[in-house]
Amino acid sequence: MSQTRGRDAAGYAPAPIAPDVRVVLACDTSGATVEVGLARFTPDGSELIPVCERSITAPREANQLLLPTIDALLQEQDVSREQLAAIIVGRGPGSFTGVRIGVATAKGLAQGLGVPLYGVSTTDAIAWSLALQLGLLSSEELRASRAAAERPENAPAERSQRSRGELCELSESPARSDLRDLDERTPSLEQLDLPALAQSGRPIQLAVALDAMRKEVYPALFELSEGRVLRRLRPDYVTTPEAAAADFVAHLQSHQGEPLLLAGDGLAKYESLFLETASTAGLELTPVATPPLGIGLAQAWLASGYERDTGDVAAVLPIYTRYSDAEESEAQRSQRTLEAPADDASQAPSLSIRPLLPPDTAAMARLDADFAGGLWTSGLISSEFKAPGRLLYGAFAREADGTRRLVAFAMTAILADELQVFDVVTEPDHRGLGLATRLLQACLERAQARGVCTATLEVRRSNTVARQLYERLGFTRVGSRQKYYPDGEDAAFYRKELLTTAQVARLWGPDRPLRVLAIETSCDETAAAVLEGDHLCSSVVASQIPFHARFGGVVPEIASRKHTEAIVSTVEEALRLGLLPPEPLRATAAGKSPASVSLRDSDETIPSPGQLGLLPPEPASPPSLSLRGAKRSEATRQSSQAAGPVLQGTGLTALPFSALDALAVTDRPGLIGALIVGLAYAKGLSWATGVPLYGVNHLEGHLYATVDEGDSLHYPLVALVVSGGHTMLLAADGPAVQPGASAGTYQVLGSTLDDATGEAFDKVAKALGLPYPGGPALSKLAAEGNPAAIDFPRALLHSGDYSFSLSGLKTAVITYIKREQEAGRELNLPDLAASFQQAIIDVQVAKAERAVSETSARAFYLAGGVAANTALREALAVAMTEHDVEVHVPPLALCGDNAAMIGRTLVAHAATQGVGSTVFATSTVDPTPCVASLAALPKLGLDAEASAHSDL
Ligand code: KG4
Ligand code: ZN
Repeated sequence: MSQTRGRDAAGYAPAPIAPDVRVVLACDTSGATVEVGLARFTPDGSELIPVCERSITAPREANQLLLPTIDALLQEQDVSREQLAAIIVGRGPGSFTGVRIGVATAKGLAQGLGVPLYGVSTTDAIAWSLALQLGLLSSEELRASRAAAERPENAPAERSQRSRGELCELSESPARSDLRDLDERTPSLEQLDLPALAQSGRPIQLAVALDAMRKEVYPALFELSEGRVLRRLRPDYVTTPEAAAADFVAHLQSHQGEPLLLAGDGLAKYESLFLETASTAGLELTPVATPPLGIGLAQAWLASGYERDTGDVAAVLPIYTRYSDAEESEAQRSQRTLEAPADDASQAPSLSIRPLLPPDTAAMARLDADFAGGLWTSGLISSEFKAPGRLLYGAFAREADGTRRLVAFAMTAILADELQVFDVVTEPDHRGLGLATRLLQACLERAQARGVCTATLEVRRSNTVARQLYERLGFTRVGSRQKYYPDGEDAAFYRKELLTTAQVARLWGPDRPLRVLAIETSCDETAAAVLEGDHLCSSVVASQIPFHARFGGVVPEIASRKHTEAIVSTVEEALRLGLLPPEPLRATAAGKSPASVSLRDSDETIPSPGQLGLLPPEPASPPSLSLRGAKRSEATRQSSQAAGPVLQGTGLTALPFSALDALAVTDRPGLIGALIVGLAYAKGLSWATGVPLYGVNHLEGHLYATVDEGDSLHYPLVALVVSGGHTMLLAADGPAVQPGASAGTYQVLGSTLDDATGEAFDKVAKALGLPYPGGPALSKLAAEGNPAAIDFPRALLHSGDYSFSLSGLKTAVITYIKREQEAGRELNLPDLAASFQQAIIDVQVAKAERAVSETSARAFYLAGGVAANTALREALAVAMTEHDVEVHVPPLALCGDNAAMIGRTLVAHAATQGVGSTVFATSTVDPTPCVASLAALPKLGLDAEASAHSDL
């Protein structure tokens, strides 16, 4: 059965975590285990001490187990979400889907909590885990923690028992019968003579081999010595186990007689290969079972990478050391050589802003001492990290060696419902760049998101630069006090109203509209939308079509990767547009360059955020990832109508999560790997923000894309859903039978026995050499042709049921093309396209008519990507006039995949389910009842899993 280990954090004492201690949460799901760990900062912020960890052996169940495990761990340790200072995630290398579940969940967590996110190599994490277990990292605090763990009252057995009950509950699942248990094969560390190993004084060589499937492994080699973990070989790479073994042996030759250890989940398959190769070379490798423990991840982060990364949630991506099968075979076909996939580090911006962390304490004190009088000593700053309500932001400049140096910071605190500004310091070399402004804006916006309505500060009368800065930020002087400062200088007092009563009411009041953020990642579009009731505030679609076009169809692996890259910025964009047009956009619209409108620190012009690199970088491949804001200008206009007028001038740049009532996410049907990214991310976001999450069926979403604002579905109805993945006729007598459920509401009259309609369009288009997706191109051609020119088969036209079959038609068209080409006759493309399209239309219209008359429907709906086909729309409209039914089709902009339709589906379900829900908010804003009801709708649990299948 599944194996769950540890809550005693690998030999470290389980000290109770005081509520003022900041902790990091680290997780890794890239291998056969789900790893979660908590580590606390030492009082001076410079070190991390393991608190607890969980290691659950459960391959392929990461999406179900990760968040419940995190939730249980925090509850058990009595750690609140507010105590989490940063999220650390294993970036692999490992199982593609596994790594993405960890990374997507972590992105949702960090974005929702507003804390930095960092990625760590999983092989690094293993090395640091081992170093921790061996006690090689022995600072005073760590030593004390280990010593405490030795005391009888902290004996591991007792502690394990306490947690086992819950853990087993989590681990109980029939699907988990096929797991591999590494511990059964390899000795655990307890069986080795650890003290001898650790105290020998000799460095320990650690070889790591992670299972890469396809008969390959991800190897890495480390040297562990007192207080140090050194990576040998190259950065993470992929190779055959034989080559990895040879690499290990080549490097270990010179370490004969030293302790040589071997770890990683690759051992399950290749242990004997590694041991034999080594022993042939006269080396004795000792296998150990050390997974990438969460606490090891945290150590690796702090010790070896923390200063290099921006902490930007959008920038953290899985480590990919090789391409997908599709890309590799395409490269082979076209005889291109693929370079190893590039890491994202090269894209790092030169200046970045993030919330400050306890380990930044020393740098903050230094900056204050050098340029601001040194009032804020390390000790005082440390206590700020422990005090409640603190909002601390820093700006970092990238140095030549890739590390980041603190160049400015702002310290503020929410005290008695007011934001008080304590200190703002900018290093002289970085003045005039708008850093102080941006840092303060970040603090102000975070405070606003918590419902804080006033900001106050005091400043030395002689500090004109600072006073100008505050005045530009909208602060007004409300008084002064003579000889306020110890040296006798006068203070000026300033104040700024952050939110009016009307604005607070609009965002959180009892009469606000039901506000939903919807997320859709079921196929090849990453989409997010904000709705207020059934009013669409924003809809953003990041299309991946350019990435798939080369392959003539959607490559699932690429889709999943692109969703992981785009999800954070797509949601950010939807939340920005959901509030009101952001500053730079409005300035551009007014014909001004964005660069000239930002707020300023001094008289110099501030470069735009893009130039400064202050905004999160665009997703990894920016040029080709187009954000099609359902048309951007339209969305912008709509949003200013919605929240705009009341919230204009607040300084908020995006809707805060605390103002959302619900999250909606497509959880079926679709490409499973693609769905998982959106679902994992949405679950993380929901857990972090307390905003409840609801699953929406993608096909039902397509149906709701036809519903206009202020309207609802008209029953009884018949719907023809035609997309790239589906072709089906549905009937419904009324809204959901079960609260919120689409299952049972719809009767599936019939569906395709083989290809989907969009798929048929795409395949025929491909045969004609048209680019992917072929549907739009083919229908354009068809408009010029004669639909009666070629008599293609109309399968199942008279079958008397509602089934469809399209593969025969597809084959007939392709055969026709070949025959004509062989006969040397030139194809009449428009005639061919029109005839193919007509064959589809004839069958679909006939079956739709039959369905309408047999079910005495009052309304007929056409939905899905193929609903964009004009000829089909028209033919159905004409046919239905005979049957006295209303015909509803989606607007063209909402035919393809989008999140607006997902949000609208949830809103519709809520509208039919009575009243009385409560909004959760992890903030100072009081939860208030919301007008429309979500209470009756079934929420998605933390263990929710996506499904590739529709269960309408
Ligand atoms: O609903 P959708 O965006 O994605 C899925 O959920 O599958 O549908 C995409 C499909 C593609 O196969 C595309 O070729 C097809 O819809 N499509 C069209 C047209 N526009 C898009 N098919 C025929 N005529 C069109 N005008
Ligand atoms: Zn679709």
